[in-house]
Amino acid sequence: MPRIRPSCVAAFSSSPSHSPSFPVPGLEGVFLGYLFGRKKATEVAHVVWEQVIQKGDLVVDATCGNGNDTLAMLKMVLDDSDACGGHVYAMDIQKDAIESTSSLLDQTVGSKEKCVKLFNVCHSKMEEIVPENTRVRMVAFNLGYLPGGNKSIITVSETTLSALKAAERILMPGGLISVVVYIGHRGGREELQVVEAFGSGLPVNDWVCCKVQMLNRPLAPVLVFMFKREN
Ligand SMILES: C[S@@+](CC[C@H](N)C(=O)[O-])C[C@H]1O[C@@H](n2cnc3c(N)ncnc32)[C@H](O)[C@@H]1O
Repeated sequence: MPRIRPSCVAAFSSSPSHSPSFPVPGLEGVFLGYLFGRKKATEVAHVVWEQVIQKGDLVVDATCGNGNDTLAMLKMVLDDSDACGGHVYAMDIQKDAIESTSSLLDQTVGSKEKCVKLFNVCHSKMEEIVPENTRVRMVAFNLGYLPGGNKSIITVSETTLSALKAAERILMPGGLISVVVYIGHRGGREELQVVEAFGSGLPVNDWVCCKVQMLNRPLAPVLVFMFKREN
């Protein structure tokens, strides 16, 4: 990979007030790795989350699947105390996915698993799960089907849109809606259009919305980030 001087890369003139000062070493390295084909979209998503999530936060994993994203979020919200400073509310429509996430947490974080609440429900119902008036720092979606599972059970545009609207309502200022969209399966492209239309329609004074997409890998996952400004 070519060596690029950090000063050539990060030139943000009007970043949101919650944003870290630039350049950001971890994010920069992973993002460059992605640009040069060495890092995955999900790795980019995780380092973006790290810039937003603070210890003690409550975050939502809207598609917990095998639990990899839930685990990454948990590590970001946990503080050093034995009690749960932060929490992850994770959901999936498949019982298999809930079990897979539970098993991963059991193997990796032991008693800290108690800081994750797992729900076998559709993400369009997230407002029924997250306690009212709670400050939610992030809602993350990793759309598509469960890797290693039944490929015919996928996220679909209609409920994804309902869930995005719910996420918009519960997110705190300084929070992030993060979406990884897979377009290689049937319905994936339409779902991307729905996610893009949703992000494009958010008011520019309150939201910063962007998309990261490979040009010559038409089936590569697309990243969409929607950051709610702190006013
Ligand atoms: C790409 S996988 C998620 C991967 C996961 N984040 C991980 O780290 O392993 C997509 C998941 O979305 C789930 N899903 C599909 N429709 C859903 C819905 N309406 N509500 C919640 N989860 C859904 C699927 O069951 C599948 O497990």
